[in-house]
Amino acid sequence: MKIGFIFYSESGHTLSVLNQLEKVYKNKGHFVEKISLYEGYDIKKRILTYFPKANEYDLVLFASPVQAFSLAIPMVQYLEHVELKKEQKTQLLLTQHFKRACFGGNRALRQMKKAIEGYNPVILCEGIVHWSSKERELQIEQIIAQFGSAMDE
Ligand SMILES: Cc1cc2nc3c(=O)[nH]c(=O)nc-3n(C[C@H](O)[C@H](O)[C@H](O)COP(=O)(O)O)c2cc1C
Repeated sequence: MKIGFIFYSESGHTLSVLNQLEKVYKNKGHFVEKISLYEGYDIKKRILTYFPKANEYDLVLFASPVQAFSLAIPMVQYLEHVELKKEQKTQLLLTQHFKRACFGGNRALRQMKKAIEGYNPVILCEGIVHWSSKERELQIEQIIAQFGSAMDE
């Protein structure tokens, strides 16, 4: 399968989870492309100028941090313009500081889903890593197991 990870990561948390996922997918024989929005985002002006293609993948994983109790702005701006295949297989990943999803994680997931709903995507799995949680490593392990096994179905 050709898989695209389209992600934003400011301090490297989200990217570090993706790096682990990438290994798992590659071990299963998939081809993975990691595409960062970071370089295409002007943090001061809050403008994203880089809109990589997403409709050439069998699976697209969107990943982002939560910022200000919402989906981070570059991912919001990206998803406003993204073109997907109809019924695109997707996976959604978020990282956030707080231990509970009610502090922005749930909202950010809803924003992601709303932005792409017109394509009627098949969302294989979704997950949030709570960075300040004592359970963080376990959460990452579970997400990797869940996301990885969704590929086998
Ligand atoms: C400007 C800003 C706003 C943030 N707002 C939230 C928030 O509302 N809720 C939360 O749980 N974490 C918040 N965080 C923490 C990040 O979501 C968290 O550290 C995330 O794992 C960072 O991922 P990254 O290193 O991939 O950018 C915020 C971080 C920044 C820089």
